[in-house]
Formats: sequence, C-alpha cells, structure tokens
Amino acid sequence: MCGIVGFTSESMQAAPVLLQGLAKLEYRGYDSAGLAVRDGSQDPVVVRAKGRLQVLEEKTNGGLSLPGSCGIGHTRWATHGEPSERNAHPHISEDLNVIGVHNGIIENFSELKEKLQRHDYHFYSETDTEVAIKLVDYYYKKYKVGPIDALAKSMVRIRGSYALAVMFRDFPGEIYVARKDSPMIVGVSSAGTFVASDVPAILQYTRSVYYMENLEMARLTPEQVTFYDLNGDVVEKETTQIEWDAESAEKGGYEHFMMKEIHEQPKAIQDTMNSVLSAEGRIDLSATGLTDEIVRDVSEITIVACGSAWHVGMAAQYVFEDLTRIPVRVELASEFRYRKPILKPDGLVIVISQSGETADSLAALREAKKLGVRTLGVINVLGSSIAREADHVFYTLAGPEIAVATTKAYSAQLIAMDLLAMHFAHVRGLLDDDALAAMIAELQSLPSKVEQLIENKERIQWFASKFSNARDVFFIGRGLDYAICLEGSLKMKEISYIHSEAYAAGELKHGTISLIEDGVLVIGVMTQNELYEKTVSNLVEVRSRGGYLAGITSYGHYEAEDTVQFTVYVPKTDPHFYATLAVVPLQLLGYYLAVARGLDVDKPRNLAKSVTVE
Ligand code: M6R
Repeated sequence: MCGIVGFTSESMQAAPVLLQGLAKLEYRGYDSAGLAVRDGSQDPVVVRAKGRLQVLEEKTNGGLSLPGSCGIGHTRWATHGEPSERNAHPHISEDLNVIGVHNGIIENFSELKEKLQRHDYHFYSETDTEVAIKLVDYYYKKYKVGPIDALAKSMVRIRGSYALAVMFRDFPGEIYVARKDSPMIVGVSSAGTFVASDVPAILQYTRSVYYMENLEMARLTPEQVTFYDLNGDVVEKETTQIEWDAESAEKGGYEHFMMKEIHEQPKAIQDTMNSVLSAEGRIDLSATGLTDEIVRDVSEITIVACGSAWHVGMAAQYVFEDLTRIPVRVELASEFRYRKPILKPDGLVIVISQSGETADSLAALREAKKLGVRTLGVINVLGSSIAREADHVFYTLAGPEIAVATTKAYSAQLIAMDLLAMHFAHVRGLLDDDALAAMIAELQSLPSKVEQLIENKERIQWFASKFSNARDVFFIGRGLDYAICLEGSLKMKEISYIHSEAYAAGELKHGTISLIEDGVLVIGVMTQNELYEKTVSNLVEVRSRGGYLAGITSYGHYEAEDTVQFTVYVPKTDPHFYATLAVVPLQLLGYYLAVARGLDVDKPRNLAKSVTVE
C-alpha cells in the first residue's frame, strides 16, 4: 500500500528525513512519490514525481533543496487514477490552505466530489485523496473552525478507510492526523515529532511510538503530540517502545511477508468488495464499463491466466457456470495463443493477473483482441500493461504483494470473480433481487470468517511440523474443491519444495493411486455437500493403500473424523464461496512447512514475483 511520513521539528531540515522515511517504506510497493515542506510561515513547496523515489530525490537534491522543518511525504500505490505526477500526493486545496497525504480508499468520493463541485471546487486529479483534502478545506472555511474540528466534520462524511496527514496554512510547524481502518503511528523524539503509516519509516529516529486508534486525530508540533476523539475531546495515550529490528518492522512484526499478507486477506477481500458494492447493497460495475447490455449479450466466457490466477479461473468456472449458465472455458495463458483459439465474436475473454504484466497473459489478451473479442482484465496493479490494454478492467484491491507466493491477491481475485458471476446472473434474470441480496450478505461475512481461520493457525503449524519431511503430498477434491486443491498444491510445492499434486478425486484411480504407499499424505477438500460422500469414498480408497488422510470440510461434517486422521473445519458459507475459506489452511500449511524446513519463504528458489518473459 501507500506510505506516509511526516515530521516537524524546531530546527532540523524535514525533507531529507522524509525521504529517508519513504525509502524505508519502499518495500510496500509504489508507483509515484511526493513531498510538501514548509519553511516557517511561508507557503509549502510541493514536489511530486512518477516512478522510483530516486526521481524525487534527484529533483530535490536528496531533500536539501527544500528548506523548512515541517513536512509530509508519501509513496503512492495507485487505486483511483493512473500512476502519474498529477495523481501523486501530496494533494492541495486551490489556495494551499490545506495540503495532505492519504492512505486508504474513500468509498463515497464521487458523491463528495459532486457536493464540492456544487460549491465551486475544481479538481485537477482523479484521486479520492484530492476530494478528502478539499472536503477538509470546505469545512474549515464554512464553519470557521480549527483544524481538529474541520477534520472531525470530514471524518463524519467520509465512508471508507483513511490515514490522513494534513498541514494547514494558518498553522505553520504543525501536522494534523486522522485515522480510520488504515494504520497510522506517531513517534516522539528530542529532535521533533513524526507521523508514519508504518514503524520502519521512523525507526532510525525514534522507538517511542503511539498507535492511533480508529477515528482518532492528532496534532503534532515540534515539542508535543495531542490526541483527540471525534468529539474533539483530548485522549490520553501511552507510548509503546518498539523492540523489533528494522527488518522485522518492515514486515509489521511478522516473520515473513507471506504471513503478513495472509493476515491482510480479510482487508483485501473487504476492499475489493467495497469497491463495487453501492450504499444500497447492489453490485455496481459501472467503473468497469460493463453495461447491462454487454452483460446480457455475452454468449461464452474464456478465462485466461497463469499460476494461481489460473486457479482462480478454475474456481470461477464452477461459480460462473452454476450461477449464469454461460459456458466457461479456462485456459492457461501460455497455451491459449498457440492453439489457434476459436472464440465467438459475442464472447468475453477474462484475463486474471495480479501484476498485470505476466508475459503470457498479456500475449493472450492481445490475441483475444486481435480476434475481435471483448476483453476484461481482473488486475491488481493499476496502470499495468494488461489494465491499459484490456477493454474493461475490474481492479482487485489487495495492495502490493511482496511474497512471491500469492495469498491476498489470489483471495481478492476470487472475490472479484464471485461478484462478476453474481452480477451477470442478476442482470440475466437468473438471480432475483432477494437471492442476490442474500449472497451479498454472505459475501460480506467472509472477511471475519477468514480472520477466524487465521486465528487458528497454530493447529496447522503443529500438523506441518509432523510432515516437514514428507516427499510427496496429494490433494484431492471434486468440483470447486478440485480448484481449491490446485492452489493448495501450488502453495505447498512453490515454497516448501515438497512434491505435490492436485487431482480431481475421481481421477486418482486412473493411474496416480499407484503412487500411494504407507504414510503418504493425502489431503481431501470436501466443502461441497453434494460431492462430499464421493470424495470421502476416494479417501477411503487411499486409506486402504496406507495413505495418511487429512480433510478440510465445513463445520457440521464431524463424521469426517471417522475417515480422516486430521480434520480442519471451515465456517459454513454459500457453496460458491468456499474457495475463499478453504484456501486459508492450505496457505498456512505451505507456509509452515517451508518454515519448518528452514527455507526462504518469501523468495523461493528459481521463482520471480512477476513473470515478464514467456
Ligand atoms: O501476476 P500474475 O497474477 O499474472 O501472476 C501469475 C502467476 O505467475 C502467479 O500466480 C504465480 O503462480 C504465483 N507465484 C503463485 O503463488
């Protein structure tokens, strides 16, 4: 995600401190950066740059060309508006009265923008942040209140998540902060006071930090920090001493990025859902440009992707076909263009990709476009090649993913595909309003169910410790459960280097069962009620050949324990949504096996995060 650093001091130059802080947040991923620095009561100077932080450093001579001891800085990971200098933060009100940086997503920004436009505000960027800054300016001027009241009034109107650091022209040397659902910390030292979205940004200056709570605000001066609640009342807080070293601080205290990203899944799912759910609880895909007419006319769907994104396609195939009755075909992008694909002119090709840069997926997109078929990208990185070239884009909001093994981007892709399938079914009259509302309600319960599964991770850790020397592992399931197996198996092999295979459960006895011998671990995924007994029968076949059985099923299927030796239960949900839940223990299993084997979890051998060659 984006990174924020702010610093105010009596005498120390702010810009070099801000640049150093932003450099410590580079690991989070970004596409542009910017600074605003104030020298006493003079107007702030704003410098923004697209691309690497180094560009900003060169523009400002490492910060030295920006005098002043109070400032804010930001690294941006685009969510609203392409990566560009114009969209980079800080954003400003027209008269420089309010200037600020923001992390998070403002869900009702279009509504707020319209309101401000009615009051003669003009907008130079496509960002939700500019709207937030101008909203603060609006309340500050309208009610002639102080910064804290202006922020509080804005917070009441803003829906979504934010960590905001703001400077007001009338208050030189001061930084104001507001937070909801997006992390923000405040640091204190003898040199001055700091604000940051993450500890590593300020660790070289101080280890004394305050963690801001939701709906709290803060006022920073060079000597002190005061916290406020939404009513403007002062809140007393205690500092925390950071004991971590810089490296573990980057991982938010987790040992690896992969574990951090596993924990970020509820948020990735929630943010992706919120981006297309309207206040009335409807699915609104207008941002993708997929009109109801287009949706009604689609005669077939081809999903093209690589690796885990292809697994999402495999899961989505079951969901789409079941809900919409549109024939769906799922293709490996690396195969698609070499087999002279036959596509219907009124078909839709969906390319799923986290990076939006995967060479085979990009080539498949171009092939589909060459054949004149409408294309839709389901993409995590805004402004990436596939996002730019596809006719329509549905952005997943997982934020930057650092671990090579995808977790949160995969989960966000699943949710995006579920939402698309539900929307298609509704528009085509196969899902009525009530049924759609019930599915949306269930979808909204998934983040907390994922959280619950992550909380129980120690049990998976214990199980992993028993099998850390395994040589071969098999995953079996039917229907959607087979798609889950594909991802579970990849998670295991790519980071733990244990050979594993995913099999459609009924296919095992057509050859592969000859590999089962005493003690070989076979994991059955059994979330689909109508296929449950069939997979259990296949597991029994394995057990009679000496296999060790583990099972993943939903709460209530306690009889599973009569067949398998280790059972993981996932909360009940709509049958179409089980991949989101059942994948979590499998991600954890892959992770803990890799840890138990002492491997480099985040950077497995021979692998790259983004595969930009064929
Ligand atoms: O960026 P993409 O989603 O297009 O990447 C596709 C695959 O390379 C990716 O999912 C890969 O399989 C991951 N390492 C799996 O964890």
